[in-house]
Amino acid sequence: MEKTETTKATLKRGIGLFDATMIGLGAIIGGGIFVVTGIAAGLAGPALTISMLISAAIASFTAFSFSKLSAVLPKEGGIYGFAYEFISPSAGFIVGWMWIFSNIFVGAAVSLGFASYFAALFPSLPVKVIASAICLFFTILNLIGIRQSAMLNSVLVSAKILVLVFFVAFGLFYVSGSNFVPFAPNGSFGVLQGSALIFFAYAGFARITILAEEVKDPSRTVPQSILLALGISTVVYLFTSFVAVGLIGYVDLSISNSPLAEAIGVTGNNFAVSLISVGAIMATASVLLTTILGVSRVVFSMARNNDLPKFLCSIHSKFKTPYYAVAVTGSLMVLAIIFADLSRLVAISSFAVLLYYSLANLAAMRLSRRKKYFRIVSSVGLLSCLGLIPFLAVDSWIIGVIGIAFGIVFYQAWKKVKK
Ligand code: ALA
Repeated sequence: MEKTETTKATLKRGIGLFDATMIGLGAIIGGGIFVVTGIAAGLAGPALTISMLISAAIASFTAFSFSKLSAVLPKEGGIYGFAYEFISPSAGFIVGWMWIFSNIFVGAAVSLGFASYFAALFPSLPVKVIASAICLFFTILNLIGIRQSAMLNSVLVSAKILVLVFFVAFGLFYVSGSNFVPFAPNGSFGVLQGSALIFFAYAGFARITILAEEVKDPSRTVPQSILLALGISTVVYLFTSFVAVGLIGYVDLSISNSPLAEAIGVTGNNFAVSLISVGAIMATASVLLTTILGVSRVVFSMARNNDLPKFLCSIHSKFKTPYYAVAVTGSLMVLAIIFADLSRLVAISSFAVLLYYSLANLAAMRLSRRKKYFRIVSSVGLLSCLGLIPFLAVDSWIIGVIGIAFGIVFYQAWKKVKK
């Protein structure tokens, strides 16, 4: 424990608005836009851009709730701390559990996204093997304490945004109007199904709240950076999805594992295809690295609060990292990669994300008891998150509900053990 205390005491307030926004963008832009775009296009058709817009609107209500929460409670631990403080300790546990659960599936999904683009460049290796290998590799990097420095993160974020800007600017010249007809082949139900799945692409906008104790002037910087990161990624996503559909049409997008590379391939420019593939590899790698870091931090915080077994907050004497938390996180991600396919992993993550965002909105409603306007925005956030869940595949709810039920049973048993 002494070592843990030391770690806490050394947290410095070094993150300003620019870096905080970059951390948000680092966690947001990855497998969603580069890979899930294809699967979502299969559901929504050319109306994919509308699906993206609906998800962005829903995410923005929730982002508003997060901004309010983080302005009032700018503490390390993020959403786990908000629900713990403003709803109840058991709600805190459930939200923390859902956060870990969903991010394990996010990590597994972006590993598969990385592998799909890698396999497109080097086709001799099986996708699941590459995905497991990259996940283990980043687990080891996290074990030995290599954190993406703010500078490296900013370089990676700038690179992935530039690659997407290139995709839009270059691809726009080859967009064909005929690819937008019929616009919504599966009707509004398909558009909403696309929205529920592509919600995955926005997950991560509140990542900065986990590091709130390391942010300068957090009650201003954290909320501003959340809204900025979400706004920037929304604009980039809307243009990208429009151009992707316009290049090859929704059917070809939906059957590709590396849809943006496939789409830009229509230009006949091999350099552009390689550039997009490299951008996708960098984007998914950076999301994976921060996801493993984020999950292990929340596991660590929960164990330190005695909500999970204590050994999970042990710090390695040499590397100064929560090594059990990191190892357990990485191993669970690899298991998820082995046992599920990409669309299932994405649907389960979206289910869990929408559920714990609902609880974040609920926490925000409690917080702003006296301000009617804030309560309305958070209520809309709560209802819209819950309202999108039925549009996800049924098996994702079943697995999600089993995950929560397991958490509740564990919590009850653990409460008795720790007494
Ligand atoms: N939003 C993250 C991504 O798209 C999870 O990779």
